[in-house]
Parts: sequence; C-alpha cells; structure tokens
Amino acid sequence: MDLWKFFHITHKKHLICNPMNRDKYYRLCDVLPLKKKDRVLDIACGNGEFLVRLAELYDVSGVGVDKSPFCIQYCMEKKQGRVPEADLVFLEMDGADYKPGDGEKFRLASCIGASWVYGGHRGTLKTLSEMTEPGGWVVVGEPFWMREPSDEYLESQKMKKEDCGSHLENIRVGEDMGMRCIYTIMSDEDDWDHYESLQWLAAEQHLAENPDDPDNEELLSKVLGNKKAYLEGGRDAQGWAIYVFKKLS
Ligand SMILES: C[S@@+](CC[C@H](N)C(=O)[O-])C[C@H]1O[C@@H](n2cnc3c(N)ncnc32)[C@H](O)[C@@H]1O
Repeated sequence: MDLWKFFHITHKKHLICNPMNRDKYYRLCDVLPLKKKDRVLDIACGNGEFLVRLAELYDVSGVGVDKSPFCIQYCMEKKQGRVPEADLVFLEMDGADYKPGDGEKFRLASCIGASWVYGGHRGTLKTLSEMTEPGGWVVVGEPFWMREPSDEYLESQKMKKEDCGSHLENIRVGEDMGMRCIYTIMSDEDDWDHYESLQWLAAEQHLAENPDDPDNEELLSKVLGNKKAYLEGGRDAQGWAIYVFKKLS
C-alpha cells in the first residue's frame, strides 16, 4: 500500500498530525515572538496547521515542505480557506533535498514529528539551525523515553533504544550546539490516546465507506499492528514534546 495513501487515510481527521492537543499547540503558536513578514520554514509540514496558524496570528510568510502529495494538496486548500492572502508556499518534495534560495536564513525553522528526514534529532537541529538567522528560532517535535522500553516494543517499531533520548537529553542536544531551549510543551496520555485512536477511527470509517478498496486488508493489518504496539508498549514508555530553541549566534 502506498505510504502516503496510508498516512492520508489514517490522519484524515487530525487537525495536527502529532500527539499534541490543539490548545497546547495554539499556546505554542501564541508565545512565539514573531512579527509580520518574518520568514518561516516548516519541514514535513503535514496538513499545514503550523504555518497557517502562524500566518493567521502574525502574517508571517513562509515555505512548507512535505513529501506527501495528499498533504500538499490539503495545505493549499487550508491556506486558501483561512489565509488566502498570505505569502505561503507549499512544496511537494523530500525535506532532505530542500535548500533555501540564495543562502536565505529563516526567522524560524521547524520540523515537528519527522526527524528521520535528517537522520534523527541531532541532525534535524543541526540542519535547521544552519537555515536559521542568528537570534531566530528552531522548533522541533520529538519523542523521548519516559521509562525503559520493552524489547518487544523496540522490535515492533524496528527501533534501537538509542534512537530516542530522554526529555533532558533532547534539550541538551540543542544546547550543546550553542542554542538555548526557551520553551517546551509536552503531550499527556489523553493527547496520545486522541492521536492514536483517531487513526483507528479514521481507518474504520474508510473501510465502511470504501468496501472495494484493494488496500483495505493491508490498511487494517497495519492499523491493528500499530494499535497493539501502542497499547502494549508505546503508551507507557514514550513521551512526546515540542521544543523551541533560540539560535544565539
Ligand atoms: C507525524 S507527521 C507530522 C506533520 C506535521 N509536522 C505536524 O506536526 O502536524 C510526519 C509528516 O512527515 C512527512 N514526511 C515523511 N517523510 C518526509 C520526507 N522525507 N520529507 C518531507 N516530508 C516527509 C509526512 O508526509 C507527514 O506529513
């Protein structure tokens, strides 16, 4: 089954495609010290909520990059519906290949929930920091271990324990690079449950409305596999936070 189709079906009902609730997410947008026409880059922008919200609040301009054609289509429709005049561009491409034009530096560069694009948390902070002007902001969303993960959970996710740090380690990685973490928001169990179980619900709805879709069997098998891994391991072991770093120089 096409990966982007799977993500599209399972995240059709999500305003935000990560385990953060809307109030906390909007609170983060509210506290960011941005102003009119500041340039913002959002790598793996999903359905565009971050950029569109910042354009609503501050009239920023910016670029959203996502590899999924479904996401980019949705981003453009959302922009048209909520901030039609905003100077926002959405590009369908691999985030790793995106290079700012003429060495442009952004006021804020983000990658929320897709650090694999740059080979992990460290690589993401390093690359975003290079694209951010001194005094600007780097925003990342990243999981962390709340407690020791089970071997079964790691195996089900094809992960090594070292692929994820603690909350403190996630902050230290950026601070060791010369940035300062100035704000974080963290998901609680309810936020996680909403994010995960909305995928079960969206998949169920797709099965009911599209009984002849040849991908249904695979869709159900993947969703049930993820559900089992979440309930049996991920829910207790993994936290999730969004970190705002200031680039000092
Ligand atoms: C967990 S979602 C996060 C979306 C968004 N940042 C948010 O928080 O709502 C991950 C996103 O990464 C995108 N993605 C996956 N691999 C990518 C890549 N190599 N380059 C750009 N986007 C990618 C997916 O299409 C998806 O929209």
